[in-house]
Amino acid sequence: MIDEARLIKLAVEARKRAYCPYSNFPVGAALLAKDGRIFTGCNVENASYGLTMCAERVALFKAVSEGARGFLAIAIACGEGPCAPCGACRQVLHELAPGLEVIMTDGEGKTVRRGKLADLLPQAFTPSHLEDQPDLPR
Ligand code: THU
Repeated sequence: MIDEARLIKLAVEARKRAYCPYSNFPVGAALLAKDGRIFTGCNVENASYGLTMCAERVALFKAVSEGARGFLAIAIACGEGPCAPCGACRQVLHELAPGLEVIMTDGEGKTVRRGKLADLLPQAFTPSHLEDQPDLPR
């Protein structure tokens, strides 16, 4: 069972910890692992703009580095209305959680939109594509 309300609450709280002095666009995420643990993330920006890390990837990298592997759902809180994860985050999440449920909400967790990661990233590039090229040096 996915406790959606709890995930949303944690994403909204994580959003308050965002470090985003350049965009002033805080984002929070809460990722539910199959083992029941929830990992939160917020965006962390940098004076060298391109080094910014999104909230979703912070949550995923925290989870993987703590030994979590399977994932059920992610809640993302941002802005005036719900927003979908950026393309880079979709790709990175898809690597480990193609079946992920994506719960999108605004900064206060009021309006909620739901989707499946596989629908947000059709025809994804996956680890299996690397197996199709036996002639390439590894
Ligand atoms: N951002 C996220 O954290 N997640 C997304 O999916 C979209 C964008 C952050 C990156 C940057 O710090 C700010 O939002 C504006 O793009």
